[in-house]
Amino acid sequence: MELVLNYKIDGITIRSENAAKPHTMPSGYLCNYIKNSKKNGRALDFGCGKLRYSEQLVNKFNVVTFLDSRKQLERVQIIRGVKTTIPEYVANNYKNSNAVPFENVDKITDQYDFILCANVLSAIPCKTTIYKIISSIRELLKSDGEAMIVNQYKSSYFKKYESGIKHLHGYIYQNFRNASYYGLLDERVVSEICLENNLSIIKSWSKAGSSYVIVGKNKEV
Ligand SMILES: C[S@@+](CC[C@H](N)C(=O)[O-])C[C@H]1O[C@@H](n2cnc3c(N)ncnc32)[C@H](O)[C@@H]1O
Repeated sequence: MELVLNYKIDGITIRSENAAKPHTMPSGYLCNYIKNSKKNGRALDFGCGKLRYSEQLVNKFNVVTFLDSRKQLERVQIIRGVKTTIPEYVANNYKNSNAVPFENVDKITDQYDFILCANVLSAIPCKTTIYKIISSIRELLKSDGEAMIVNQYKSSYFKKYESGIKHLHGYIYQNFRNASYYGLLDERVVSEICLENNLSIIKSWSKAGSSYVIVGKNKEV
């Protein structure tokens, strides 16, 4: 399957790597969830962005893999006040951790106890890529592993997107400089995508405008 990472819709280029928020704005709720999770061992941060949850993950798990698009991994950016790249930051600061581009996802031979996929699906305007991510998560989970898929789908701030062009699960919004896509993925939409990719839903809930879906491998198949 061809990996579609240059998200281009009707001639409009969407730069999803620009959607990542800095580490100063992690969700306290998600940080607590990671801290109190019953899982331990190996974790994967799928679509790690600017490493918003890296500290929580490395403090909790023995081994952590950070994965994002090659473009996001190769660019020089400010991570926790340091001008660096994600692989360089990970190598210099975290033991037993590595960074892998999405383009090499099929080369990963490890399996994980916990996979975090936070606000990634909502940044992707392409169904094929969303399905590839979800089926990769399935491949990468241990048989008793759990993946947490989080997406913010409600906020007063999103109102402006509704003046944009409707696309996939949300809207393409253009300002004078660039175009962005925001998908509104509530519990039902995320659950459907996961079920279609043969994952089982362990638990799902919504809180403060975000949907949380915990999935595992479907053991009956
Ligand atoms: C809104 S950011 C979220 C980043 C991080 N998870 C967080 O919560 O701060 C969305 C991220 O998804 C990444 N992304 C887009 N397409 C991807 C793909 N096919 N595989 C992995 N990451 C992808 C973007 O580069 C970006 O870092």
